[in-house]
Amino acid sequence: MTGASSGIGAATARALAAQGAAVALAARRLDRLEDLAGEIRESGGAALAIEADVTEFSAAEAVVQRTIAEYGTLDILVNNAGVLLLGPILDAPVEPGAVATELSSQNRLEILESIKQRFVDVERLQAVDIADAIVYIVTRPRHVAINEILIRSTEQEQ
Ligand SMILES: NC(=O)c1ccc[n+]([C@@H]2O[C@H](COP(=O)([O-])OP(=O)(O)OC[C@H]3O[C@@H](n4cnc5c(N)ncnc54)[C@H](OP(=O)(O)O)[C@@H]3O)[C@@H](O)[C@H]2O)c1
Repeated sequence: MTGASSGIGAATARALAAQGAAVALAARRLDRLEDLAGEIRESGGAALAIEADVTEFSAAEAVVQRTIAEYGTLDILVNNAGVLLLGPILDAPVEPGAVATELSSQNRLEILESIKQRFVDVERLQAVDIADAIVYIVTRPRHVAINEILIRSTEQEQ
């Protein structure tokens, strides 16, 4: 799981671990990953924290190698970091609307203000709402491919 240190990625890692998956958590903030891995292990799950900037090929490759060394296999890759070695993800199967995560806080002040005004009367999605959909996708039988799910807050306009 890339981008597992916060928001949708952290919620998805928790949800997958709760379903019995052994999870490898990758992101740049190792302290966050270790806290989450500890939380998952305390709940009886299996989790491995791997510091990686997935824009670097060698780091992405090392994540895969460490995961396989630890668990013997890599069955599912959830790429949630929002970046790929070849550029941004354009055809992700899950298309979230506005989700209340740390992501919006990384915007410039004027963009933050515009987001605040746009969603002032909207109950935004939570990271767990998207995690639910990801768990659904990856737990379908092998012959079922979910290619697209659009999830918006009920009150969000187009
Ligand atoms: N929130 C929304 O409204 C919304 C809407 C549509 C789509 N999305 C997409 O959903 C995904 C998750 O976003 P979020 O809302 O959960 O935001 P978030 O809380 O900011 O999470 C982003 C995650 O990606 C990681 N990350 C970023 N760059 C990375 C890199 N170079 N290498 C490794 N990890 C990296 C971050 O960890 P570190 O900083 O520790 O590396 C963090 O764990 C993103 O792809 C985002 O574009 C979000």
